Amino acid sequence: MEKLLVHGGSRLKGTVTISGSKNSSLPILAATLLTREQCVIRRVPDLSDTNYMVQILGTLGAEVERASGRVIVAAEKVAPEAPYDLVRKMRASVCVLGPMVGRLGEALVSLPGGCVIGDRPIDLHLRGLEALGAEVEVKGGDISVRAPDGLRGAEINMRGKFGSTVLGTGNVMMAAALADGQTVIEGAAAEPEVADLAQFLNAMGARVEGAGTRTIVIEGVDSLGGAEHEVIPDRIEAGTFLVAGALAGDDLLLENVCADHMGALIDVLRESGHPIEGRGPQALHVRAATSPRGNEFATEPYPGFATDMQAQMCALYATTPGISVVTETVFPQRFMHVPELNRMGANIRMEDATAIIKGVDSLSGAPVMASDLRASAALVLAGLAAEGTTEVNRLYHIDRGYENIDDKLRRVGAKVERAKEG
Ligand code: EPU
Repeated sequence: MEKLLVHGGSRLKGTVTISGSKNSSLPILAATLLTREQCVIRRVPDLSDTNYMVQILGTLGAEVERASGRVIVAAEKVAPEAPYDLVRKMRASVCVLGPMVGRLGEALVSLPGGCVIGDRPIDLHLRGLEALGAEVEVKGGDISVRAPDGLRGAEINMRGKFGSTVLGTGNVMMAAALADGQTVIEGAAAEPEVADLAQFLNAMGARVEGAGTRTIVIEGVDSLGGAEHEVIPDRIEAGTFLVAGALAGDDLLLENVCADHMGALIDVLRESGHPIEGRGPQALHVRAATSPRGNEFATEPYPGFATDMQAQMCALYATTPGISVVTETVFPQRFMHVPELNRMGANIRMEDATAIIKGVDSLSGAPVMASDLRASAALVLAGLAAEGTTEVNRLYHIDRGYENIDDKLRRVGAKVERAKEG
């Protein structure tokens, strides 16, 4: 296993190019199963999660080629079973379910395992597929979905206890693209990744309207064809580098970003005093505030503050003067970074799903244990601003979602090195 050594105290200066979105790429790659024709997906980030998805497509029978960000898929045949060995490695593999049922009228997919950020049930995905007329059975760790007479369009409310579901909306949208008649999804997730998936589906010949809002209308078509698509910039990678700039930035420019997808984060950072400016349509410039201030926010489904940026903000506020209050409403248990930040000298107290952060003058480097992707990113950020060296163990978590994070940080002046653990 590898770890990242982060030597604190450098100032960040230069340009970072943001990669294509992981959370767009995964369902879009799964959607290529909906057609027997060739699809070309560009700007797919080279990450372990996208590699798993490519492997899953291959195991299901698709021919897949991958070179410098371009993935070419031709799924002339698709097997109806996705085995546990593959699915267990990545929760997002559940998004092959919708395309498999849409194309084949049946699918057997192992239930994805638990996850440290919360229970992560898939009841809403299954409720949506049932509303389209599929029979769903969960047995022996597998989900079996069957629609021997095909799927039928329906009105579906996908809102759950914690709001909308991103991959659930994608799954139902993909299945409904090939259903008979009209499907209306109410309470849909409005995340940019859902809109990106809809754009790809429409390029394949689907008829999806309203993606990016709470109501999506899909007119089923008989078949879909091949298409080319470029995935949107990764708003969470961009957000993580914005926070790096707020913590330690002298003059940091982020290229290939879509600022419109990051409104809530930019507002909160500006309120805390950090100057952020647009530079043309696809670049953002950030500097650390001279007098940063604490702040208060709660995570929410898009366009609210993204849960995937919550841990990184806790790292920022750990050394921001004043009291900051961060509430998690999407995944209430997603605070594994807090004990690790406290080991580095932070003063964070939990009250249910709210972190109360009293800014300290400085953190001190320590060996810390990353437990999930965004928590790991938060520890790297904390290390940039800490005194001494922070050793972030279990780096494989970060490699799931950040393409070449060590190279990108080094190029803008951070002192980080990858090393073997133990
Ligand atoms: N939920 C249910 N039932 C369901 C599905 C979800 O109760 O059937 C609940 C979840 O437990 C959670 C809330 O609904 O409380 C939202 O979960 P959602 O389904 O939207 O999450 P997801 O689609 O599985 C995606 C991202 C996550 C991101 C969430 C929320 C991908 C591959 N993953 O997951 O990204 O946190 O949306 O925005 O798109 C990450 O990139 O680090 C990451 C975890």
